[in-house]
Amino acid sequence: MSLLAPVEGWYAKKVARDEKMWMLISFVLCLMLFVWMLLWHVYGEQNPSNVTYRTTPVEFSRLHEAYIKKNMIGIDNGVPVVKPEPKSDVFFMGEMWRWSPALILQKGEWYNLHISSKDLMHGFSLQPVNMNFQVYPGYDYVLHFKPTEAGEYKVLCNEFCGIGHHTMIGKIVVIENDEDLKKYGYDFPEKSAVPAPGTDTAPATATEVAPASAEADIKAGELVYTLKGCVACHKTDGTAQLAPAWNGLFGKKEKVKENGKEIEVTVDEAYIRESIVTPQQKVTVGYEQTVMPVFALNDEEIRQVTAFVKSLQNK
Ligand code: CUA
Repeated sequence: MSLLAPVEGWYAKKVARDEKMWMLISFVLCLMLFVWMLLWHVYGEQNPSNVTYRTTPVEFSRLHEAYIKKNMIGIDNGVPVVKPEPKSDVFFMGEMWRWSPALILQKGEWYNLHISSKDLMHGFSLQPVNMNFQVYPGYDYVLHFKPTEAGEYKVLCNEFCGIGHHTMIGKIVVIENDEDLKKYGYDFPEKSAVPAPGTDTAPATATEVAPASAEADIKAGELVYTLKGCVACHKTDGTAQLAPAWNGLFGKKEKVKENGKEIEVTVDEAYIRESIVTPQQKVTVGYEQTVMPVFALNDEEIRQVTAFVKSLQNK
């Protein structure tokens, strides 16, 4: 309420000419902006508008995993690589702390990219074109788009999402023709890079000849490692930022903390199982900052992952 009450009957006074003029100008301006808003959507060069659907992290993870299992053509540093068919639906997911899969797209073709998060809020930042948006769990962002320039693009996470945030870098490669695949090291022999249980092609990881079923277990274990996202923290090349590397881990003595007390354990089948089922029971000294999520693996998958870790013993 103002200090002085307006003069009685002010609203009955005629509107002055200049006042009317300003009202007209602002009304026309509003109309112009409204029309331009629609035109800008079509002709403007800005972040694309997407359609969003509700989903759940569990449901999206399920679709994402099934999609990758069906379509992956190879593995790049533990990240599945997919070359989707033009005009198809592509599932791309952020989780602590990786984007998957790595995508190979054809220049000039349309794709329906479904993007979501498995755990918390991540930021999808496509570089170097600098396209940004937030990715929440529970929402499926569908981006209908056509890559117009060939090259390698990085998907950086631009929302701080925890201790491994800076390592969360995904890859999208846009090619003009299949020849380009060599340039990126993605010229996998047709489908054979996918570890298929039961096949008897010699794996690159095994250092000694093992019975066929053990071979299949190792391959299946590597697939679990790739699909479930263990690779986001556990590397197999000896680098260890967020969690112990898996190569050379089996049989090793590790210092761990249990209920605040430091003890020494030997990494064996039982210890690996315990670490998967109850990750916080024993935490490796030096990695107390990383909280390992509980991955719902069944007994068979645990056996396979263990076989995979074992196979990396001498690497
Ligand atoms: Cu994901 Cu930062």
